[in-house]
Amino acid sequence: MSTPSEDRAAIVTGSTSGIGRAVVDRLVSDGWQVLGVDLEAVDDLKGAETLGADLTTREGNRAAVDTALEAFGRIDLVVPNAGFQHVSPVADFPEDRWDALLQILLTSPFLLAKYAWPALVEAPRGGRFIPIASAHALAASPFKAGYVSAKHGVLGLVKTLALEGAAQGVTAAAVCPAYVRTPLVEKQIADQAKAHGISEDRVIEEVILTPHAVKRLIEPSEVADVVAFLTTPAGSTFTGVPVTMDMGWTAR
Ligand SMILES: NC(=O)c1ccc[n+]([C@@H]2O[C@H](COP(=O)([O-])OP(=O)(O)OC[C@H]3O[C@@H](n4cnc5c(N)ncnc54)[C@H](O)[C@@H]3O)[C@@H](O)[C@H]2O)c1
Repeated sequence: MSTPSEDRAAIVTGSTSGIGRAVVDRLVSDGWQVLGVDLEAVDDLKGAETLGADLTTREGNRAAVDTALEAFGRIDLVVPNAGFQHVSPVADFPEDRWDALLQILLTSPFLLAKYAWPALVEAPRGGRFIPIASAHALAASPFKAGYVSAKHGVLGLVKTLALEGAAQGVTAAAVCPAYVRTPLVEKQIADQAKAHGISEDRVIEEVILTPHAVKRLIEPSEVADVVAFLTTPAGSTFTGVPVTMDMGWTAR
């Protein structure tokens, strides 16, 4: 008889930092087998396997799926989460950064879905594809052309996979948080200060939290809680949709 930890297996990308680390911690504590994938393998992701891979490449995404199948013999859940931000007015937006943003935020989720699809279809309780998108999958902000475009694309991918997966027991839902307290946001504060020509304190008050009706950052563990809910039987009713946790951003 299998133990609970042998029962379900997940891939989480961008697992070394911020939201990805919190999702790995939560899934491990819920008894999942987890492969965390990031640029470098690390040894401090307790209870998880880790893989170093560059997910802007096809080989990196293929290695993530192959490694999970070798380690666990199954994949029940994929959480594409790896990413970065680039803040720049469109006229100056570096074309290489646009390409890299699309590769990590949109093409990597597509490749992971493609390569893991046969395993997700075989998952006994139904495969789940739960990318960490963003409120920026639903609304734009200035100076973020690459990020906003890629995140809107992830929502299109999720809708398509939900329709394709419906008859095969696979669901897809995009978690769409507003601003979360992670290194990615801390870097944006500095970048936005430069782009707007104002202090970092003013960026937090007047730029970062401006779209939030509720004026606080979300914690990474709160995003992980939502992912954990989406893995439950009731969570399977959320398919082809954004799961919006945006502090009232899109209510306006
Ligand atoms: N922090 C927020 O406010 C926020 C809000 C909404 C959505 N998100 C999304 O959540 C996800 C995680 O963001 P975070 O805030 O935890 O960021 P983070 O910077 O803390 O972590 C991102 C991780 O992705 C990894 N990564 C980047 N490029 C990679 C590559 N080429 N190959 C493999 N790994 C790579 C990084 O090494 C890092 O560990 C991102 O997709 C981000 O867009 C974040």
